[in-house]
Order: sequence, then C-alpha cells, then structure tokens
Amino acid sequence: MCGIVGYVGALPAVPILLDGLARLEYRGYDSAGLAVLGTDRIDVHKTVGRVRVLEELTPESPATLGIGHTRWATHGAPSDANAHPHLSADGRIAVVHNGIIDNSVALREWLQAEGVRLVSETDTEVIAHLIALAGGDTLEHSVLAALAQVEGTYGLAVIDTEQPDQIVVARNGSPLLLGVGEQEMHVASDAAALVRYTRQIVHLDDGELATVRADGFHTFTLDAQATRKTTVTVDWSLDEYERGAHEHFMIKEIHEQPEAVRGCLRGRLDTRFQTAHLGGLNIDAREAREVRRVKILGCGSAYYAGQFGAQLIEEVARIPADAEPASEFRYRNPVIERDTLYVAVSQSGETYDTLVAVQELKRKGARVIGLVNVVGSSIARECHGGIYLHAGPEVAVASTKALTTMMTAFSLLGLWLGRIRDLSAADGGRLVRGLQALPEQIATVLEGEEAIVDAAQWMAKAQNVFYVGRVRGYPVAREGAQKLKEISYLHAEAYQTSELKHGPLALISSDLPTVAVVPDDELLDRNLTALHEIAARSGPMLVVTHDGVDVDDLAQSVIRVPRSEAELDPLLFNIPLQLLAYHVAVVLGHDVDKPRNLAKSVTVE
Ligand code: F6R
Repeated sequence: MCGIVGYVGALPAVPILLDGLARLEYRGYDSAGLAVLGTDRIDVHKTVGRVRVLEELTPESPATLGIGHTRWATHGAPSDANAHPHLSADGRIAVVHNGIIDNSVALREWLQAEGVRLVSETDTEVIAHLIALAGGDTLEHSVLAALAQVEGTYGLAVIDTEQPDQIVVARNGSPLLLGVGEQEMHVASDAAALVRYTRQIVHLDDGELATVRADGFHTFTLDAQATRKTTVTVDWSLDEYERGAHEHFMIKEIHEQPEAVRGCLRGRLDTRFQTAHLGGLNIDAREAREVRRVKILGCGSAYYAGQFGAQLIEEVARIPADAEPASEFRYRNPVIERDTLYVAVSQSGETYDTLVAVQELKRKGARVIGLVNVVGSSIARECHGGIYLHAGPEVAVASTKALTTMMTAFSLLGLWLGRIRDLSAADGGRLVRGLQALPEQIATVLEGEEAIVDAAQWMAKAQNVFYVGRVRGYPVAREGAQKLKEISYLHAEAYQTSELKHGPLALISSDLPTVAVVPDDELLDRNLTALHEIAARSGPMLVVTHDGVDVDDLAQSVIRVPRSEAELDPLLFNIPLQLLAYHVAVVLGHDVDKPRNLAKSVTVE
C-alpha cells in the first residue's frame, strides 16, 4: 500500500518519477505527489486523484533528483494537503512514506508544543519535522535521530536542500528496493517501477537505511553499523508490466493463466518417479516424513488458495491440514508444534499480516516454507525454503493468475508429500498427467468466455449473489465470491452447499442468484439435490459443471469446464468465476484494475 519512487542521476527526474508512480499506482491511487530538488529549494507538486492528474499539473523541471508517492490513505482522508511528499516547516526536508507511524499522535502533540504548525492530518508529516529538528551534521544522521523517536512501519525516502546530491531511504516493515543504474540510482517500493531502467536490484532489510547518490549507495542499520548488500538481477521484463491490447490488466492476467501455470510447473514434474521435484523447499524426504500436520497461512485470496491446498494435501498426502487467515493467526496465541509444517502463501511476498505471522513462527522455532510469486520479497526471504510461483508480475489489484499458480504449487506440494508417504506411483502418475494437462485445459475454458459475458449481463442486475460449493468446491466458491465483491461491489457470499438447508435457504428467491460449483464427482447427487431445492424456490442459477451433468432445466446459465483429476478440478472451476466477476464489473462500468478502497500489496496492519 502506497508506492514510493526516487531518482538521482543526470536526467530530468520528473518524467522518471511520473513513470515510476504510474507503474506503482496499483499500490494506492487516492492521491499522488512528487518533490524535486531545485537550486536551494524543494519543489513539491501533489494532488488528490490519480497519477495522470499529477502529470497534468507538474511543470517540466531541470532537476535531476527527486522522490514521489502514490497514496492509499490511512491517516487523514485523500486530499491535496494529506498527499505526500510532506515538507518540514522550513521547507528544507521532503519525505514520502509507506507504512504507519504508531506513535504519531504523541509525536504530533510534542511537535505542536515545540511550536511546529502541522499542515496535514497524516502520520507522515511528523517525520519531516523530526528530521529537520534533529540537527544532525548529515542528512543520514538526522534521519537516524528522527527514526529513534518513531514507532511503527515505514518505507521512507527523504531529500534535503542542504545535501542536494542524495536521497536517504529507510525500511522497517514496508518494502523498499534500490535500482542500480549507470551513474544513476533509483528507489522504489516494487521492481515494477525499476525494470524500465535497470534489472540490478538491491533489497533493503527491515531496520536498514541507505544513502543513495548517482554514483552508488551505502547501507547501514538503525544503530549506524554499515551493512553489506548483494545485487540481484530481476527476471521480469518491461513487457510483462504492459497492458498491451487488453482493456484491463485483470483480463490480460486471466488470459495469461495457461502460460503462468506452465511456468509454475516447469522442471517440477518428475515422470520417472511420478512425483514433484521441489528443490527450493530445503526439506529432505526423511524430514518430510516427520511432518504430522500442515498449517497454511495467507490473506484474502491467498487464504482461499490455502484452503484449497489444505484440502488437497489432506486428501492426497493423508496429513491433517488446515488454512487460517494470517491476519487472525498472528493476533491469537497459537500453539506452535514441532512436527507441523507451516506454509505461508502470498503473491506479493509483502503482505504485512502474513510476514509478521512468519516472523512469529520463526521466533518460536517453527519451520516455515513460502509459496510466493515475487522473487526476493520479504516473505520469500524470511522463509526457510519454498516454491516460487513463477506467474510473472501481477498488476491488477484482483488476483487471478497468482491465485491459480498458488493452487498449482499446492498441488505440487501435495503430490510430493503424498509420494513420500502413501500415495501410490499409479496415483502419483495420475496427478502428474492431470497437472501436465492443466495449461491446455485452462486455455479451453478461456475460449468459452462469450457464454460468461452473456451470463454477466443478467448477473449484473443483482444486488446480492450466493456462491455455493462443497468440499473441494468450497474454496472455489469463496474465491469466486471474493472476486465479485472486490471489483463489482455486489454483495457476494459463499456457503458450503451442504449448509444451505441449515439457514441460508431462507434467503433464496427470484431476486437472489446463486453461482454453483458442481463437479461430476462422488458428491454430484448431493449437489444436484441442493440445486433442485434452489430451483424450487425460484432462485436463478449459474452452474459451473462438467459435460454430462444435466442441469440445463434448473439453471439460467450453464458453464462447462474440462474434466481434470478430481483433486485438481478446482483449478479449472475457478477460471469461469474470475471471468464472471470481470465481466460483471465491466457491465457495471467499474474501474476493474483499481477497485475502490483497495490496493494491491497490503503492507500495513
Ligand atoms: C484478492 C486479493 C487479495 C490478496 C491478499 C493477499 O483478489 O488480491 O485478497 O489475495 O491481500 O495478498 P498477497 O497474495 O500479496 O499476500
């Protein structure tokens, strides 16, 4: 949440900052701003609204050093005054910040008692004043002194008219990367803003700062000890961050799923021993046999992918498994067991709740592996090992291809754990072949998009939508409902099909459509009974099912997906529900890639 950029080099900073902000806009989009260092003064331009509004109002400038910010409001409503950068009272210091300063109320009171006039409602503004008042002999000393008074999380970039050749950055709980160029340096919350200029990236760690100049950088800790960093090369190319001919990133990413799943499977299927090859787990077979339980932690859609994973691992590997929102887990006092394998799942690798859950687990000596998309991200670096998703960059706020690769990676993990235990070679081979077939099968589902466009027309007229699924289908229903609420703003709720008659059936009427997940598996008869109960109460239905399942007389729309192995069916059932949410949002005219109130990469509590 919130995107930070910075540039110091020989080129005009404004176009580079604006380009970086546009690429980070998915992190927050209620206001945007930038500050460049002119001769002896800082010029700030900021506005409520999108980066394109900022672009219109920002004049050309010869300045070659600056910082920028795109905001997702936490303290203070979106407004010009609350937009970043924030200046110190004397205009000497400018600050952009991602994160939350927990003791900002006390710091504001203290600053006001010192006679400082605060001009915004943000927690960030205090940092600019604290740095200006710190009186250090260098900017980095002043930043260190100011941060000693600050409690909370931050990714921070600071410029100072008195040290016009540098940007000082700091990280604690909010991501921050340096991009190393030729006689120029970049700063960003995410590689998305960097790949146009450089693939050479340095990840800062929590509690680390850097002083960045055109010809290089040095890093140090909050207690001023120098640190050593290695530069890593990012694989993702600029093209992957472009929307191309697609109207939205979300639909582009939905259509990239066959390739994303191929990427996730590449080199990981072992057809000789009918298992998965997962070198990055850093767990050997003997250790894996000692695992008595699997606990999966993630947030939002990643949590629903985790529910799918738990179901599959329990079914295939016969290890008790469950998923819990990381955001809940970290606030209770969970029992941590020696022989439990903890799995953190996250697209961004920066979700704060998941990251803190991992850190808490590690502190208590647990073994945690990560299923993460962004290479080198905080969660990936915290975990003992893991499976990178290789989905490519996901830009749309609503997660689609990352979610599908999470499900793919869980299938690989389940297969591997199963084959170390009691899953036969024959069943292993069945799953290997099922996984190999998935990319083509997903492509087949995507070819059926027209039927979903039609269904979206009538679904968009609803106020509320029910999603039902049973056992393997339930996480699919939950994720389908999540996608619809996020981008169409319709109220959507998922239930286990089996639970309908225990309460929610009371709500069924001609006004309440139901989206039903109905694979042709051992539970088909029970699911069909529930569909009859809904139809008998005039509930309109969209049913996602397999060929040969006769529901045409019951449902307004029927979407058929190819058959996979029963354990893998949820991966295919999920795709039409993504398309449905997308097309309903398009019918309703919403900003699909930037849904209201949300932002990608939730790096605050
Ligand atoms: C849903 C969505 C969110 C994320 C959640 C976790 O479409 O995007 O629910 O899934 O915020 O994010 P990551 O996977 O980055 O940890």
